[in-house]
Amino acid sequence: MTLYNVALFVHFIGVIVLFIAFGVGQRAGARMRGVGSVEHALLWLGLLKVTTPMFPTALLFLLGSGSYMAAEAWSFTTPWIISGIVAILLIGVAGTGVAIRGFGRMEAALEAATTWTRDLASVLNDTTTWTAIYAINGMSFAALWLMVVKPGWGQSVVLPTAFALIGGALGYLSVRRGIGTGVGNEAATDESYSTNPPS
Ligand code: HEM
Repeated sequence: MTLYNVALFVHFIGVIVLFIAFGVGQRAGARMRGVGSVEHALLWLGLLKVTTPMFPTALLFLLGSGSYMAAEAWSFTTPWIISGIVAILLIGVAGTGVAIRGFGRMEAALEAATTWTRDLASVLNDTTTWTAIYAINGMSFAALWLMVVKPGWGQSVVLPTAFALIGGALGYLSVRRGIGTGVGNEAATDESYSTNPPS
C-alpha cells in the first residue's frame, strides 16, 4: 500500500460525500417545495440543511487528496486537473455560499409563515438557489468523466461548461414550471396534512 493509494481512497470518499449531498439535497428539496404544509416543509428543510456542510467537506477531501496525487504522479498544468480544481472550487465555495443563503431565506420564510401561500412557495422555489445547485451537480458529473478519461483541453473545458449549463437549465425549468411548488396541495394545511397527505 502506498500513500498514493490512501490519497485515492480519500478522493473517493470526497466523491461519495459530494454525490450524497446532491442526492439528499435534491430529493429533500423537491419534497419541501411540494409538501404544501409549513410544518412538514420545515422538517424537509432540516434534512436539506444537513447537506450544507457536505460541500466544503467534499471540497477539502477532493482538493487535498487530488493535489497530492497531482503533485506525485501528474502535474498542475494537466488540463483535466486544472478543470477539476476550477470545478471543485466553484462547487465548494459558490455552492456552499448559495446554498447557505438560499436555505436561510427559506427557513426565515417558513418560520414566519402560518399557512402555505403562493408567496411562500415562490421563496422555496427560488430560481437562483436551485439553478446553482443543479448546475454544480451537472458540473460534478463532468468532473467525474474527466477524472476517469483524463482528456485534453477540449473536453476539459467544454464538458464542465456544457454540463453546468444543462444542469442549471434543468434546475431553472423544474422550479419555474411549478414542479413541486405545492400548488394544488394548499388544501393540505398543517391541520389536515396528517389525515390527507399530498401524493
Ligand atoms: C468534482 C470534483 C472531482 C471529482 C468528482 C473527482 C473524481 C475522481 C475520480 C472518480 C477519480 C478516479 C479515477 C480513476 O481512478 O481512473 C479521480 C482521480 C483523480 N483525481 Fe479527481 N475528482 C474531482 C476533483 C479533483 C481535483 C480538484 C483534483 C486536483 C487537485 C483531482 C485530481 C485527481 C487525480 C490526480 C486523480 C488520480 C488519477 C489516477 O491516478 O488515475 N480531482 N477523481
